[in-house]
Amino acid sequence: MTQIEQLAEKVMKSSHLTVLTGAGMSAESGVPTFQGPDGAFKGYPPEELANHKRFDLDPQLVWQWYDWRRQKIAACQPNMGHLVLAKLSRKPGFSLITQNVDGFHEKCGTQNVIRFHGCIWEMRRAYDQDEEPDIWWNDEVPLTAIPPLCPQTNKLCRPNVIWYGENINAEALAKSTLAASNCDVFITIGTSSVVRPAADLIELAKESGAFTAEINPEETPAENYIDLKIGATAVEALTALDGKIHA
Ligand code: OAD
Repeated sequence: MTQIEQLAEKVMKSSHLTVLTGAGMSAESGVPTFQGPDGAFKGYPPEELANHKRFDLDPQLVWQWYDWRRQKIAACQPNMGHLVLAKLSRKPGFSLITQNVDGFHEKCGTQNVIRFHGCIWEMRRAYDQDEEPDIWWNDEVPLTAIPPLCPQTNKLCRPNVIWYGENINAEALAKSTLAASNCDVFITIGTSSVVRPAADLIELAKESGAFTAEINPEETPAENYIDLKIGATAVEALTALDGKIHA
């Protein structure tokens, strides 16, 4: 039995399937990954831009980076891998936790998507202290004003994404923890598995008794917690998986 056949059998027999995706999921759509060769902006690695300290010092620079990323994403489309996951999501008991802020899973109709790191197409006021801040959709590409200001109050805005050092949205964290600890099959796809707490979910799934698999052409620390490694790209592996499941 090939690795893909093994995974297909596990997926077909599963009652609760949880998938975790990272930037590698959208790489074949043309969106640069964070740690990949095109991940830096003006010489700054993402962790030096995606944090409140940098934003406080230089909102212009941080927003230029987000405008650049929004333009890249807007020029791309979900790939075959996203479509296969959308198809799989119709299976009862399916959950998809994504670290990606591009919105591609939602764009192709995937059910039960948990946005672990937020959404690049949403904005909120940067220094809003409300427990439930106003959040609004903004898909203007390119942005006409950098940094963008709130249309109601003229105050400085930020993207509604999670930055380094910030807590994950409580509801997203609770749902993800449940989905990882309650599943019988957990597949991690296209993530370097170094940014926590997302990287802890595979370990949680493994400790909770799930069959765990990783799809990634490179080695990652997740390999300490997996039963099956598929060293292929997301599109290659998911297209092959779809072929076996629907054969
Ligand atoms: P990374 O850029 O850290 O890792 C991308 C992973 O995708 C690497 O392990 C690659 O080997 C793999 N990869 C590349 N091409 C692939 C392909 N075609 N198919 C499958 N895998 C492929 O991205 P993430 O792990 O998503 O957080 O990064 C996690 C978080 O760090 C991001 O959400 C972001 C970032 O800084 C914040 O902004 C808080």
